[in-house]
Amino acid sequence: MGKTIRIGIIGSGGIAGAHARAYKGIEDVQIVGVADILPDKAQQFIERWDLPDATGFDDHRKLLELDLDGVSICTPNVAHYRTTVDALSAGKNVMLEKPMSVTLDEAVEMVQVSKKTGKMLNVGFQPRYDPNMAIIKNMVQNGQLGKVYYVETGGGRRRGMPGGTFIRQDIAGAGAMADIGCYSLDLALNTLGYPKPLTVSAYTSNYFGTNPKYHAEAGQFDVEDFGVAMVRFEGDLVLNFKTSWAMHMDTLGATMFLGTDAGMKVLPAGSGPWSGVWDGHVGSISLFHDIQGHHTESNIPLIKHEINVFEEKIKDFVRALREGTPAPIPGEEILRNQAIIDGIIRSAQTKKEVEIHIPDLV
Ligand SMILES: NC(=O)c1ccc[n+]([C@@H]2O[C@H](COP(=O)([O-])OP(=O)(O)OC[C@H]3O[C@@H](n4cnc5c(N)ncnc54)[C@H](O)[C@@H]3O)[C@@H](O)[C@H]2O)c1
Repeated sequence: MGKTIRIGIIGSGGIAGAHARAYKGIEDVQIVGVADILPDKAQQFIERWDLPDATGFDDHRKLLELDLDGVSICTPNVAHYRTTVDALSAGKNVMLEKPMSVTLDEAVEMVQVSKKTGKMLNVGFQPRYDPNMAIIKNMVQNGQLGKVYYVETGGGRRRGMPGGTFIRQDIAGAGAMADIGCYSLDLALNTLGYPKPLTVSAYTSNYFGTNPKYHAEAGQFDVEDFGVAMVRFEGDLVLNFKTSWAMHMDTLGATMFLGTDAGMKVLPAGSGPWSGVWDGHVGSISLFHDIQGHHTESNIPLIKHEINVFEEKIKDFVRALREGTPAPIPGEEILRNQAIIDGIIRSAQTKKEVEIHIPDLV
C-alpha cells in the first residue's frame, strides 16, 4: 500500500467521466472533490460516478482549498487558463485536458506559474501512450530518414462535428484545429523533438458548421470546421498541417515525414465517420526507401497491445505524483503546440503569414 493520492476534478462534463473511471481503477487513489460552475452538476457527477469521499463545489477555488495531490482540469478550453493558474498557485499538480489553452500568452503564463510554484503542469495527449508512437519517434530520432525537411499531418473527418461547448468561440476558443488538430501536431512535433516554430500562414473556414443543413446548432457555430496551415521551423523544416471536422472528401491524406534517406507514412487506426484523425491509435507505419537503387516500401510491424491509452495517461500522472517525478507530458513542451494554434488563429484572421515569438521562460 502506498500513500493515498488525493485528486480533485474541475469541470464535470463528458471527459471528466473518463478521468473518474481511470482514477477509480488505480489502487490508493481517492477523488476527494469535484467542481463545476453549473449548480448541483458536481454533486450529480459524484453520485453518478459513486465517489463517496468527494465533496461537490460550484467554484473551483473552493475545491482548491482541499488537501490535494493533483487536479484534473476538464473544463471547456477557455477555462483551462484560469483554473490551471489557480490550481498551480494553490500548490496543486495539474493534469490538464487538451488543448493546453486558447492563446500563447495564456500558455506562457501557465508554464511560468508552474515553474515558479514547482508544481507539475501535465497536458493529456493520450495517443502518446500507444507503444507504436515510440516506433515512429525512434525511427526519426535514430536518423533512419536522414534529415527530415517536410512533414504533413492532420486528418479529416468527412462528417464529425461536435456541438455544445466545442462550437462557440467564447467557450472553445477555436474549432477543429485546436480540438483534434492538436493531437496530430503532437504526433508530428513529439516525433521531431518539438522543434521551434517560426512562422505560420493559415486558412480556416466554417461552411459546414454554420449551415443548418449540416449542423443542428448552426446558429451558435462560430469556430472553424476546416483549417490548413504552413508552419516553418528552425532548422530548414516545414509542416503542412490540415484538419477538418467536415468536408466533401474521404481523407485529407496520411501523416508523412520526408527525409533525405527515407520517407515515413503513418495512418491512424479506426473506422467510421469520426475516424481519420489522430486521437487514439496508430493504424500503420510504412517506410519508403531505396534498396540497391530499387524503390522499396516496407511495412513496419506494429506492436499489438491492449493498452487503454486514456487510462494510461491518468496512471502515468498518478505515477509521477507518487514518485515526485517531472510531468510526463510537460506544459513547457506543449507550449510550442499552442504557439502554432495561436499563430493559426492570428494568421487566419489577418489573412497573412504571422511570426511566432515564444518568450524565454525563467
Ligand atoms: N482527451 C480526450 O480524449 C478529450 C475528449 C473530449 C474532450 N476533451 C477536452 O476536455 C475538455 C472538456 O470537454 P468535455 O467534452 O468534457 O466538455 P463538456 O462541455 O461536456 O464539460 C465541461 C464542463 O466544465 C464545466 N465548466 C465550465 N467552466 C468551468 C469552470 N470555470 N469551473 C468549473 N467547471 C466549469 C461545464 O459546466 C461543463 O460541465 C475540453 O477542453 C476538451 O477539449 C478531451
